[in-house]
Amino acid sequence: MLKQAMASILTSEEAEEMYGAFDQIGNIIILRIPDSLLSKRKTIGEVLLEKVKTAKSIFYQSSPVEGDYRIRQLELLAGEDSTETEYKEHGCRFRVDVEKTFFSPRLATERLRIADLVNDGDVIVNMFGGVGMFSIVAAKKKKCHVYNVDINPYAAKLCSENIALNKLKGTIDSIEGDAADIIEKELSGKGDRVLMLLPERSDEFLDSAIKALKQKGTLHYYCHVHSDKKNQVSAVATSHFQSVITVGAKVLGSKIVRPVGPRFYQAVVDAVISK
Ligand SMILES: C[S@@+](CC[C@H](N)C(=O)[O-])C[C@H]1O[C@@H](n2cnc3c(N)ncnc32)[C@H](O)[C@@H]1O
Repeated sequence: MLKQAMASILTSEEAEEMYGAFDQIGNIIILRIPDSLLSKRKTIGEVLLEKVKTAKSIFYQSSPVEGDYRIRQLELLAGEDSTETEYKEHGCRFRVDVEKTFFSPRLATERLRIADLVNDGDVIVNMFGGVGMFSIVAAKKKKCHVYNVDINPYAAKLCSENIALNKLKGTIDSIEGDAADIIEKELSGKGDRVLMLLPERSDEFLDSAIKALKQKGTLHYYCHVHSDKKNQVSAVATSHFQSVITVGAKVLGSKIVRPVGPRFYQAVVDAVISK
């Protein structure tokens, strides 16, 4: 569909550059547009809005995902100037604001993988939980309890709304605050499982993650890896994890979550921690 829409305004080389730079979240489309095509961005937006019947707004992502809240700046190219939408995934409904909070549809496979690993009865500390994506997919499938912590007040508020929107087997507390502070004050030793979905700062928060776990528990440690060879990413992530972990850790596995740039990957290491 994108190919057909773009054929009327771009050369085939230009259209090629646009693929993979397109995310649809509910009725919002977000485009990353290469510098060489920036002057055509309004036209690209208008054509997309006309051709993609399920889209109400087309935005250009004008900054990388950045800052404490891991959010991006958006410029409206066509349609309604609203950054809130409803998104459906794995049988769950989510209110998301694609400008005020972090959100990526590209983590959908990882969310399901984690939900499948969760056991009934697990207590989960989701340290950087955002609008509750991982927490809700897990609590939809399993009778677990999740503490969804996020420092961004908009994310914590949307997480509370998302908990109410879904019929869950488990339960979730949305907690606004800094994960290290909240763990210190309220969550020390509570988790059977801890999720660390802030890959650029995992090492900084590793002691807090360990503190959040029971004597024995599972850690899902996310990190970024530069590698020329895709097949070496999980080994690099594992050896980095082993070099920073300060307590007993049995690595269960490691894998690429998604590519985040040329020869640059988000990876996850799953490990059982014994304190
Ligand atoms: C990469 S996003 C992941 C969000 C969510 N897990 C998801 O996948 O949709 C990282 C989140 O960490 C939050 N964050 C950043 N620093 C934090 C801190 N010190 N304590 C708690 N949350 C924090 C950001 O607001 C952001 O929502």
